[in-house]
Amino acid sequence: MTRAARAVASPRVVCIEDFRPIARQRIPKSVFDYLDGGAEGEVTLRENCRIFNDVTFRPRHAVAVADCNLCTSVLGFKLSLPFLLAPVGYSRLMHPGGEVAAARAAGRAGTGYILSTISGHKLEDVRAGSTGPVFYQLYLMGGRGAAEAVIERARVAGFNALVVTIDTPVSGIRERDYRNGLKELISGGPMAKIPFIPQVLARPGWLMDYLLDGGLPGLPNVIVPGKGQMPLVDINAALAESAVTWSDFSWIRKIWTGPIVVKGVLTADDARRSIDHGAAAISVSNHGGRQLDGLPASLRALPEVVKAVNGQIEVLMDGGVRRGTDVAKAISMGARAVLCGRAYAYGLAAAGEAGVDRAIEILRTDLDRTLRLLGCPSVAELDRSYVNVPKSWEA
Ligand code: FNR
Repeated sequence: MTRAARAVASPRVVCIEDFRPIARQRIPKSVFDYLDGGAEGEVTLRENCRIFNDVTFRPRHAVAVADCNLCTSVLGFKLSLPFLLAPVGYSRLMHPGGEVAAARAAGRAGTGYILSTISGHKLEDVRAGSTGPVFYQLYLMGGRGAAEAVIERARVAGFNALVVTIDTPVSGIRERDYRNGLKELISGGPMAKIPFIPQVLARPGWLMDYLLDGGLPGLPNVIVPGKGQMPLVDINAALAESAVTWSDFSWIRKIWTGPIVVKGVLTADDARRSIDHGAAAISVSNHGGRQLDGLPASLRALPEVVKAVNGQIEVLMDGGVRRGTDVAKAISMGARAVLCGRAYAYGLAAAGEAGVDRAIEILRTDLDRTLRLLGCPSVAELDRSYVNVPKSWEA
């Protein structure tokens, strides 16, 4: 076992929450809070996790389950697990392995990885790293020309689907990032950086890794025509100039002929619009509570969306998934699979690729145990009969 794997082995890490203190110790406060935090009062962030308590199980006891089948398919791609790794921007700041490490771990586990536009690694390297399906998450940063170029690169590299995130017309205000000087550290001049340097110096191990990795990564997948690669500075300004609207789907569809997932749907209306604009799947998502605070928890929005979609396309969900029981509840309520964001990113921040492996392993064994305790032999058989959902949630 490697040193990194030992650092996150049982009994130090027995559930996802156990990664947090280890990650907090390894990476600077500004990076940890970027990963851990949410928008404004962080109400939606907390509610995403809390809401899973409102749904309880209806087990079938005294049922022998010899082999639990955790397999499913998403967009026709066979997965060994019903959870994929969500796009997490700036992953390379959490650990130099970043997006490549996470994709490799996903592939090894037989599941999918979604690469954020805000990636420090080239999409070709990420694709080559994984043996599983890899999707590209698109922001229109750098404008339509940059988007067209990256979509073509993703096609040539062999990406399997495009994920268009629709909830980010501007970046949400994550107050911890302002207090920690994240923007100053990334893009400020030397004087602006000074007040925030001590927290970085307090993590010499991380700092050494970061410097050996070449320092601040750029955005090698955002190539702006006539200007070249976009630096990692001023993401907020770049996002504000590049909001996705429904009218963009017509040109995106012309240049990307593969499946499209719309990420950030919370209402029946947006679900129907996604179908009308050619989505093959949607993800019910509030961006992990990082955009508009006061949005409903993703699980709370799931029944309305599942009802509106009525089986026409696949429904995924993300937000607050930290345990195998959470995965089982979401699937019982109609999600085809879930996306995990922080659950694996805490692992990445704590121990690099070994941490992502361990996070996936925890969720896998959790889910297997949950199915056995429910008396349910397979993920495919999970349905509403296995859960009590509050009456007031009925869509
Ligand atoms: C995200 N998320 C995200 N989503 C997206 O479409 N593009 C992105 O670049 C990012 N970046 C990002 C960074 C960080 C640090 C986090 C935590 C999240 C949102 C992500 O894909 C997913 O919707 C949430 O993470 C789901 O919530 P949980 O699983 O983190 O609770």
